[in-house]
Amino acid sequence: MNAVPTLEIHLSDDDLTAALRSDARLGLTSDPKWLPPKWFYDARGSELFEQITELPEYYPTRTERALLERVVGEIARGARAEVLVELGSGSAAKTRLLLTALTTEGPLKTYVPQDVSSSALRAAADEVAAEFPALAVHGVVSDFTETLHNLPRGGRRMIAFLGGTIGNLVPAERAEFLAGIHEVLEPGEQLLIGAGLVTDPAVLVPAYDDAAGVTAEFNRNVLHVLNSRLDADFVPEKFDHIAVWDADNEWIEMRLAATEDMTVRVRELDLTVEFARGEQMRTEISAKFRVDGLQAELTDAGFRTGQVWTDPDDRFALVLAGRV
Ligand code: SAH
Ligand code: TRP
Repeated sequence: MNAVPTLEIHLSDDDLTAALRSDARLGLTSDPKWLPPKWFYDARGSELFEQITELPEYYPTRTERALLERVVGEIARGARAEVLVELGSGSAAKTRLLLTALTTEGPLKTYVPQDVSSSALRAAADEVAAEFPALAVHGVVSDFTETLHNLPRGGRRMIAFLGGTIGNLVPAERAEFLAGIHEVLEPGEQLLIGAGLVTDPAVLVPAYDDAAGVTAEFNRNVLHVLNSRLDADFVPEKFDHIAVWDADNEWIEMRLAATEDMTVRVRELDLTVEFARGEQMRTEISAKFRVDGLQAELTDAGFRTGQVWTDPDDRFALVLAGRV
């Protein structure tokens, strides 16, 4: 029917550069320094993330996939969605399970993948359109923390947010994000979240610090992005990847540590940044949840929490929450 996906771009290349300029100026002049995580995901970053999902240490993707395989029928029957909107869809690999169930067991007509990475979005939209010829595919390039109001309306929707990406937002951002989703949903529509659960640090930490060094390369990719977009002169190899479990906040924190004293120029910002040997810059958190905490965050945002499913090892949860 409609094998050619349509694309809607709310973030042009110029918008991205403008946003990166202000994020980089703020983060690199703060003490301690930090960078927001969405800047990992240029085309190379999205590819590196796909490699991460296949690493033996990175259990979240395969755990979520197995869980979806088990419960996707229940989700489809509960949601009866006509439109599936997926935030941070990436390669949408696991989403095929949802799309199959929502079309065979329900009335799904339209898939709306959304991502900040236009290369990942285009590839995923093309593949899904080819695999599901009866589905209308409409991709949206935007930042899910800013442009929820741009999501298409009409038709009963389910918004899916998989992969534990919810954990990449700090608690205050999460509260704002969930309330924002609640606001754009109509009564009877649903939100499906895939979230990592608190588990043994001996399992958690290697998932974010693999032996082959792919996650380290992914982390350093943010420096390549600064070099190419803002004409900076970071030497990414001179930064070590660090992943630590913060037991108080119950999140993994990713950092880049300078291996020597360095002076970095960010020419587009006319900014000089000094790094001392050993200095650490935060690049990402990946919060892990407890089921009751996740439910409380959803009810605080106005949702009625519906069903929760977890894997046999309690490492990952899927939560289907309804807008009342
Ligand atoms: N859903 C996929 C990908 C998870 S990785 C999975 O489960 O495997 C996180 C995804 O969110 C990436 O594709 C990244 O490009 C996207 N992303 C990160 N920050 C974003 C933001 N602020 N707005 C939109 N997409 C974002
Ligand atoms: N959403 C992913 C997660 O939190 C993102 C991710 C996986 C990630 N590995 C990473 C982010 C390493 C930064 C560094 O699991």
